[in-house]
Amino acid sequence: MAKPTAAIILAAGKSTRMVTDLPKVLHEVCGRPMLAYVIDACRAAGIARVLCVVGYRQEDVKAAFAGESGLTFVEQPEQRGTGHAVVVCRDALGDFQGNVMVIAGDMPLLRSETLELLISTHNQENAAVTLATAVLDDPTGYGRIVRDQYGNLEGIIEEGDCTDEQRKIKEVNPSYYLFDHQWLFEALAQVRPNNVKGEYYLTDALHILVHGGHRAIAITAVPAEDAMGINSREEVATVGRIMQNRIQRNLMTQGVTIVDPPNTWIDVRAQIGQDTVIHPFSYIHGRVQIGRRCSVGPFAYLREGTVLKDDVVVGVFTELKNSTLAEGARARHLSYIGDAEIGRRVNVGAGTLFANFDGQRIHRAQVGDDTYIGNGAILVAPIAIKPREQIAHGSVVRAGNGNSRGGGA
Ligand code: UD1
Ligand code: CA
Repeated sequence: MAKPTAAIILAAGKSTRMVTDLPKVLHEVCGRPMLAYVIDACRAAGIARVLCVVGYRQEDVKAAFAGESGLTFVEQPEQRGTGHAVVVCRDALGDFQGNVMVIAGDMPLLRSETLELLISTHNQENAAVTLATAVLDDPTGYGRIVRDQYGNLEGIIEEGDCTDEQRKIKEVNPSYYLFDHQWLFEALAQVRPNNVKGEYYLTDALHILVHGGHRAIAITAVPAEDAMGINSREEVATVGRIMQNRIQRNLMTQGVTIVDPPNTWIDVRAQIGQDTVIHPFSYIHGRVQIGRRCSVGPFAYLREGTVLKDDVVVGVFTELKNSTLAEGARARHLSYIGDAEIGRRVNVGAGTLFANFDGQRIHRAQVGDDTYIGNGAILVAPIAIKPREQIAHGSVVRAGNGNSRGGGA
């Protein structure tokens, strides 16, 4: 039987270059905190037990992932380096025996397939440590992979500690490590902060294992794109764009038409059915569910909690939030639909507004099947409109007053 694998995600860093009060790993990429992608990739690779090393504003990180099972947060009170970050997890691992994956929390483009390959190679080769590396045109900023004349791994040298020759190496360490649990902690006990930064480097554990005669291998398995870590706002945007392309490509594979991909933004949590068409300049944010054969946009804004059943049309300058449009409903122009339950085949006329907020509380509205709402109507929630009603153009409709035509009630 294969050895079990636990994961340690390094996420304690403060990240000065982000210029932020928020922990870096909570910055969002396509609608989710970047750390969520790393946790998900571990899960998808079959890792049940995940430890996350936190430091800077750890309460915020914990709160963002409250309720995730099999996730333990370990505090690293002072950031004394990646090696130290792993050492602080030792107690939390308890009597765990098996492989320990160590991975950075700021690389949301990682893929579970790469982690799976890392695990299977490590087990087959019976190594003390296995790395997955990347080859980059521009290796600046990364630790370099040093191999001997036969291609055997010798270790990782941090950029600041490289010779001019070593700095030219294009094979880098994107921080995908898989260690045998026992050798990991034995090696870390020998790591000293004798480098330009004065930190305990996890990468030094590699040299120690290699020099101790242990089997250490490196597979060039990380696509260059995936190796991009986030250290600045600009990188949040760059990684976000790459992730957005992946999300859209995936949806198109499932039969969704996206007319103008660069001018469309779709949250990673959104679900969209086959033969739906997303027109340009649509912004779909949050856990939005869209059925089959719908038409969305151009210029539609769908927010958290929007559910479109099959054959729904949401057109230009229409905003939806926390609302369901049942089969065949249409809201073609200039509407705000918030906290509403719209029935089948309802026509929401141009400029219709749902007044869901009274200054203190949000209220819900219901519109029965086959109702026709004329142009420029205001439906004041809480309200329930029966099926097959006709609401005249320009109405202000409140509970109790039925359909008050022509303005203020
Ligand atoms: C590290 C690697 C380097 C690799 C690069 C990109 C080391 C010594 N170097 O360098 O080889 O190419 O990542 O993958 O590991 N962190 C903590 N606690 C700490 C220090 C760091 O949790 O005390 C976390 C950070 O939040 C971050 C990750 O570890 O998520 C990497 O730390 P960072 O300081 O960015 O390392 P690099 O200098 O980029
Ligand atoms: Ca980094």
